[in-house]
Amino acid sequence: MSGRGPHRPGRTLSPFVTHGAGDGEALLTGIKPTGIPHIANYIGAIRPALALSEQYDAYYFIADYHALTTVKDRQALIDLTYEVAAAWLAMGLDPDQVTLYRQSDLPRCSSSTWILGCVTPKGLMNRAHAYKAAVAEAEKQGKADVDAGINMGVYYYPVLMAADILLFSADVVPVGRDQSQHLEMTRDIAEKFNLTYGDVLTIPELVVSSTAASILGLDGRKMSKSYHNVLPLFAGPDELARLIRRFRPTPPGRTSRRTPRARACSRSTGRSPPRKTPSGFSAALEGGGMSWKELKDAVFELLDGFLAGPRERYRELMADKAQIQRVLAAGAERARPEAAELLARVRQAIGREPLSL
Ligand code: TRP
Repeated sequence: MSGRGPHRPGRTLSPFVTHGAGDGEALLTGIKPTGIPHIANYIGAIRPALALSEQYDAYYFIADYHALTTVKDRQALIDLTYEVAAAWLAMGLDPDQVTLYRQSDLPRCSSSTWILGCVTPKGLMNRAHAYKAAVAEAEKQGKADVDAGINMGVYYYPVLMAADILLFSADVVPVGRDQSQHLEMTRDIAEKFNLTYGDVLTIPELVVSSTAASILGLDGRKMSKSYHNVLPLFAGPDELARLIRRFRPTPPGRTSRRTPRARACSRSTGRSPPRKTPSGFSAALEGGGMSWKELKDAVFELLDGFLAGPRERYRELMADKAQIQRVLAAGAERARPEAAELLARVRQAIGREPLSL
């Protein structure tokens, strides 16, 4: 497999660009069920992942064990798992083409997490951004024990992620920028394992989605569920219209001298607007022939038209959870033998003989 061998720098891949790689390579990514999917999730993660799935042997999974570090309400975890699976299916993921499964349905992940933990330097985990941020917060609050309130799941999070990836010998792992450190850690852990036990694990390459950071939310800040400024993918038409009307082009406390055209353009592309664009919106805004209200109405029409079909499909799936369960069960069924094969090689490498009675 091409993923084996020395470190290679991560690739930045525009979701709009089809690149040559892919034939026979395995692609894997995890989707953490911690919030109802919104437009920025679609543009930053779902759409690029769906485009890539056509070129690779693709594995997508609902990372419910990762969500467990923060989601403590049992019903919330159940609901979010269905919602996230239904969202990906509704937006076009074809479960016959992509292996879609739930992380916790592969018990081999936990075994390999332990084994990998035993070659992972503790200092590496001390440097993980999420853990460091939690410690910094405790320090800020003047807590005597900076680890108070931090569960072991948060600390061990990158090792479980390494297990997710390495168990499938993934060659490429598309993630948002916030996950790139975790990917680097996965590569470090795999190298440490290979140095200790021989060349068993594939060193994955990270692929960073280039649009993820540039989608603005309803208040002009980055669209994020923690800012409560998202456009949910499956809001009904009335709610969608109401939310779009609420859009405030300038972030609170900041004044902007940029024109509506500039803001609209950077919102959709993450770049400064080109001098001339062929887009009808840009031309109309530039010529002063379009007001914000007209722009919002037009955005609503566009989004509502695009989302009407997926919204219907999402409703159907959520009304019949057995359909979602069947898809996830079939995915786990397909994924299990592959994970078993790699884990058998890992166990063989570490000196755990099968008992032949
Ligand atoms: N940690 C990732 C996130 O928060 C989700 C995830 C879990 C993942 N395991 C993974 C992503 C393996 C890529 C590969 O988004």
